[in-house]
Amino acid sequence: MVTSFDDFTDTLFADKSVLTERHQPDEILERDDEIEQYHYALRDILFGRDPENIMLYGKAGLGKTAVTNYMMAELQEAVAERPAADDLYVHQINCNGMTLYQTLRYLVNDLLPPNASEFPKRGLGVTDAFEELYDQLNQRGGTHLLVFDEIDHLDDVDTLLYELPRAPSNGKLTDAKVGVIGISNNYTFRKSLSSKVRDTLMETEISFGSYDAEELRTILSDRAERAFVEGTCDEAAIAKAAALAARDMGNARQAIDMLRVGAEVAEENGDLQVTDAHISDAQERVRRGRLQNRIRDQTQHAQYVLETIALLEQRDRAPTRSKEIKEHYEGVAESWASDPLTTLKSIQDHLADLHMLGFLTRHDKNDGLSGGQHYEYELDLDADLVLETRQTIEGADIR
Ligand SMILES: Nc1ncnc2c1ncn2[C@@H]1O[C@H](COP(=O)(O)OP(=O)(O)OP(=O)(O)O)[C@@H](O)[C@H]1O
Ligand SMILES: [Mg+2]
Repeated sequence: MVTSFDDFTDTLFADKSVLTERHQPDEILERDDEIEQYHYALRDILFGRDPENIMLYGKAGLGKTAVTNYMMAELQEAVAERPAADDLYVHQINCNGMTLYQTLRYLVNDLLPPNASEFPKRGLGVTDAFEELYDQLNQRGGTHLLVFDEIDHLDDVDTLLYELPRAPSNGKLTDAKVGVIGISNNYTFRKSLSSKVRDTLMETEISFGSYDAEELRTILSDRAERAFVEGTCDEAAIAKAAALAARDMGNARQAIDMLRVGAEVAEENGDLQVTDAHISDAQERVRRGRLQNRIRDQTQHAQYVLETIALLEQRDRAPTRSKEIKEHYEGVAESWASDPLTTLKSIQDHLADLHMLGFLTRHDKNDGLSGGQHYEYELDLDADLVLETRQTIEGADIR
C-alpha cells in the first residue's frame, strides 16, 4: 500500500535513543576525579559499616545523575561479592515538586512488601510517615541508600536532614543502616540549611565542574559511534557541538541535544551526513526548546508574572517596579480565568525567585531624597519567546 510516509526511506541514526535523556551510559567518561571521590565516600558500605552521607553539587547537565546511577549499579555488584557487607537497597527519588510527606510516602511504599496496601495519600502527618519508614527499614534490615535528586526543591528539607541522621542514636533505627545522597544544582544549598542540620549531617561533598570542549568531544564521540550509521556523522559536527556547549555552560545534555537535533536537521534536508553547518542550525532550536521547558517548569502564577513583564517590555514599559507589575499581572491572571494572588509580597516573592533563576534582571534604584530603595525588573530573555511559550502552554491562539 502507498502511504504519505513512503518518502522516508533513509535514516542517519543506527540507535537514536543513545542521544536521549533516557539513555544510561555504560561508561562514564571524563569524570575520573568525581568517581574516585564517590568510591571513597561509599567504601564503608563494603565493610558493613554505617554509610557516609554525600552531597553532590553542580550545574545542569554535568553528569550528577548519570554518575550516581553508574555508582549505584557498580556498588550493588561489589556488595554482592563482599561477605562483610550488608544487603544493599538503593531508593532513588526526584524531589522536584514534592512535599516532605510525599517523599516519605514514596520511600515507605518502596519498602512495603508486595501485597501490603500503600501508605495513605492523606490523613496522616510527617511524624507518622517517619515512624512507618523506620518500621519498614527495621523490618527489612540491611543498608539503605536514599538518593534525593534535586533535593533543594523539597519543602522542609531541614526536617528530613535533621531526622534521618539522628534516627540511630534516637533508638528509632535499630536494625538497618541508612545513608543519604543529596543532589543539587544550587551551591548555596548547604547555607540554606539550619545550623543544627549542618552540624549533624557530616556529609562528604563532591562538586561537579563544567566540561570543557575537549571533554565534551570525548563524550559526544562515544555516543555518536553508537547513535549513527557508520560514516554519517562528521568529526566537524561533533567538534562544533562540543565547542558551542562548552562556550555556553559546559553542559553535556545540551551538547548531546545539539548533536541529535543537528542530525534531525540533516535528515529534514535530505542530507546524507551531519556536518557542522547542521549543528549551527540546530543551536537556536535547542536553545528555544530548553527555554520553553524551563518556563513550563514554573508555577502558574510565576508564569503569569513572566508573561506580564514580557507584555510590558513589548510596550517599552520595562524595567519597572513590583507595584506596576502587580497591577498588570492581575489583568493577565484574569485573562486566563484565574484568581490573581492578592498581596504585593506574593508578587515580590515570585519576582525574587524568577530573578534567582535567571529569568529576570534586577536593578537597584534609590528613591532620591526620601532615602528609600526599590528594585526594577526586566526580562533577561526574549519577550516574544516568553509570550509564544505561554500561548503554547495554554493551547491558546495568538492574542
Ligand atoms: N561524563 C559523562 N559521560 C557520559 N555521559 C554523560 C556524562 N556526563 C553527562 N552525561 C550525559 O549527559 C546528560 C546529562 O547528564 P545528567 O543527567 O547526569 O546531568 P545532571 O548533572 O544530573 O543535570 P541536572 O542537574 O540537570 O539533573 C545525560 O544524558 C548523561 O547521560
Ligand atoms: Mg540530574
